[in-house]
Amino acid sequence: MSFQQEINRRRTFAIVSHPDAGKTTLTEKLLLFGGAIQVAGAVKSNKIKKTATSDWMEIERQRGISVATSVMGFEYNDLMINILDTPGHQDFAEDTFRTLTAVDSVIVVIDVAKGVEPQTEKLVKVCRMRNTPIIVFINKLDRPGKDAFELLDEIEQKLDLRVTPLSWPINMGPKFKGVYSIYDRSLYLFEPNKQRVEQRILFKELASSELDTIIGDDATILRDDLHLVEGVYPVFAKEDYLSGEICPVFFGSALNNFGVKELLDCFIEIAPTPIGRETEERHIDPNEEVFSGFVFKIHANMDPNHRDRIAFVRVVSGVFERNKPYHHVRLNRKLKFSNPTAFMAQKKSVVDEVFPGDIVGLYDAGNFKIGDTLTEGEILHFKGIPSFSPELFRYVENADPLKSKQLAKGLDQLTDEGVAQLFTGSATGRKIIGTVGALQFEVIQYRLLHEYGASCRYEHITLHKTAWITSNNKAMLDDFKMRKASYMALDKDGRDVFLADSPYSLQISMEKYPDIKFHFTSEF
Ligand code: G4P
Repeated sequence: MSFQQEINRRRTFAIVSHPDAGKTTLTEKLLLFGGAIQVAGAVKSNKIKKTATSDWMEIERQRGISVATSVMGFEYNDLMINILDTPGHQDFAEDTFRTLTAVDSVIVVIDVAKGVEPQTEKLVKVCRMRNTPIIVFINKLDRPGKDAFELLDEIEQKLDLRVTPLSWPINMGPKFKGVYSIYDRSLYLFEPNKQRVEQRILFKELASSELDTIIGDDATILRDDLHLVEGVYPVFAKEDYLSGEICPVFFGSALNNFGVKELLDCFIEIAPTPIGRETEERHIDPNEEVFSGFVFKIHANMDPNHRDRIAFVRVVSGVFERNKPYHHVRLNRKLKFSNPTAFMAQKKSVVDEVFPGDIVGLYDAGNFKIGDTLTEGEILHFKGIPSFSPELFRYVENADPLKSKQLAKGLDQLTDEGVAQLFTGSATGRKIIGTVGALQFEVIQYRLLHEYGASCRYEHITLHKTAWITSNNKAMLDDFKMRKASYMALDKDGRDVFLADSPYSLQISMEKYPDIKFHFTSEF
């Protein structure tokens, strides 16, 4: 197969949702259709449940599982599908944001009864920033839920998306009869509790009385609904979906295997092939024959006998080859990988060649940091892998004076993995950890002890937000830094960070220093 054919047959995407909407169930059903797994229940949920907050072993166990399910590749109709898993727990939202940098499209799962939930809003916002093509799957139609039109309105308003339904539900809850597929003009009838593909009836002529014979009174409602759909929503055009302007919507029930195959069949027809990425230097096209890729996730090995980590690299262009030396741009060093790993369903295997769109896992002894670039020699820095301004902060203090080196190393490596961000107070030299979720503090303390033999203690700090600051007006910047000396810190890359202790102080500072830019993501 040619390089071009290899690229064209790849589809790399993520399924995202608010916890419990059905992401894991849908993933599993897609893998079943792809023949990657044989029985339901084989995919373990990668969600760290709220109840696990104080249960370390549970967190570690679940982190272990999530390595296996980080990337799930399978072949379907000669296509190579890569599903990238994202943690469901909101405290790990930043991991999810970063994973979204490595995909070319997403499927958003929404619970028909709950509608748009907060985590969905956050995740879709990130997708919108990059115009990532989105398909919406409204799940759990076997249960009573919101009216379909109401739900579409809610999606448009809360998610700021333009939608167009490609299937339409026929009743819901206990009276759910199935969906009419607007995409392939067929009727799919629902049979509850059947783990098999539903019955499909091609139905181009909705006026036909046969429809009344099959679905009874619901036929009139369906005709009226579809008439309204036609009047209100735009006709689906693949280009509008690919440019992120319009989102096709499907209805179904992942648990009952209903609507999933249609979703998959439509997905493989419309979803984008691997797309290029921007670097600070230039645009990289996937068809370029020279290899380039970036690290979007690092996973530590939980086995204390093996201290290595796996860096997940998205191949952007060219072919990644085993045992070939590549240039690590940040370290300005050549590195070779003898065991690059690909992920098929839940199996890992060593591979010789990896193509654009694929994810390759590289065993790493500490060379990689999130956002790092590998090339064949060119100096490139991929954009769009920012750190976000953290929301929770603590001072971190060494609790064992004999282990200060271990603590420094542990903090350095854990923050390279993206578990948290580390700041150093400019006036005090004290280390401050910033995270997006409370769980991370506990994970860090546990991992420092178990992986680095270091103990740390946290101390309270009153902080509202951090902002990276820059300015062309040097005098104003110097004045700000002098006056706010006790609220200044440096990040790991030595950049200036303002530690705002309240929304008020942040607002006043922004007003008083108009020539200073306050940035809330690390990419500016
Ligand atoms: P998540 O990954 O988005 O967090 O959701 P997950 O798939 O784990 O699904 C959350 C719950 O919703 C699960 O039930 C799952 O069985 C159920 N579910 C998923 N799809 C459907 C559907 O189409 N209809 C109905 N009625 N339920 C659905 P659970 O009781 O929390 O877990 P489990 O014990 O069934 O695994």
